[in-house]
Amino acid sequence: MQKIVFVTGKGGVGKSIYAAALAQKYSLKGKRTLLVELGDESFFKTFFGLPQVQYTPSKTLNDFEVALWSGSEALKEYALHLLKSEAVYRLFFENKVSRALIQIAPGLPELAILGKITSGPRHHGPSSPHEVIVVDAFATGHFMALMRAPKGMAQAISFGPMGEQSRSIMKTVEDATVCEYHIVTLAEELPIKETIELYDQLKTEFNISADIILNKKLNTQLQSSELNSGNNEFVKYVKETLAREEDARTRLKERNLNPSEVPFIYDKTSYELIEQIAAGIKL
Ligand SMILES: Nc1ncnc2c1ncn2[C@@H]1O[C@H](COP(=O)(O)OP(=O)(O)O)[C@@H](O)[C@H]1O
Ligand SMILES: [Mg+2]
Repeated sequence: MQKIVFVTGKGGVGKSIYAAALAQKYSLKGKRTLLVELGDESFFKTFFGLPQVQYTPSKTLNDFEVALWSGSEALKEYALHLLKSEAVYRLFFENKVSRALIQIAPGLPELAILGKITSGPRHHGPSSPHEVIVVDAFATGHFMALMRAPKGMAQAISFGPMGEQSRSIMKTVEDATVCEYHIVTLAEELPIKETIELYDQLKTEFNISADIILNKKLNTQLQSSELNSGNNEFVKYVKETLAREEDARTRLKERNLNPSEVPFIYDKTSYELIEQIAAGIKL
């Protein structure tokens, strides 16, 4: 059975890096793995120095594959799958009116993306050869819109293939034997606040228990005696950072949340960064 791992969190906290490290880890374990980024622009193209990252998966130097899935492409693929003809597709979709309609239909691109991501376990649409799909998903707010799209559509159109597909996608994203959710955060006030809010929303709306990843944990060589006696700007910075981390852990612990921690990696190439983070991940 294909496994799907969603990675989300506030913008800039390290979602993409952590998602890539997870893909690396699964790949090292011998799983055929696809790392998927969502949206219109590829981060991994530059990060991994690849000629291109497209809708169709391509290989990275690290063995796993990478793809970029946008709402419009996912929608097109799905429509073509239903209509079975490029000419009919163009007739219906490639005109001003339907383009405008697709843009205003709430959640339609999001629904198509989730449909694409979950098509393997649902045995619907083109089959995928991957054992694990790691999704470098949208940041917090847009991520919830993605999650809510199937429910919204199932309520708006409860009949026919659209209603049926929406319900099947909804069931799959809520199935803990298929999907995992990782919320990446930094040990800072706002990301922690957003993380707890997102955790609660996933729990109450979908009964999903997400894992929390505390990223960029400071590893200091300084002994506690040096920290206590030292008084320069650097020592002050280290002390403040450690205090902030402790505070973040306490706030999560108050909610019975026990984060996995990922160290801050200094001065490394993209591939070394991913490899070092992957080495610390326990699956
Ligand atoms: N554990 C880490 N150690 C060092 N640098 C990191 C770590 N995690 C993320 N970064 C850096 O932080 C920046 C933001 O990470 P990124 O994964 O692009 O965030 P997001 O996808 O959440 O916007 C990048 O420059 C990345 O290289
Ligand atoms: Mg990113």
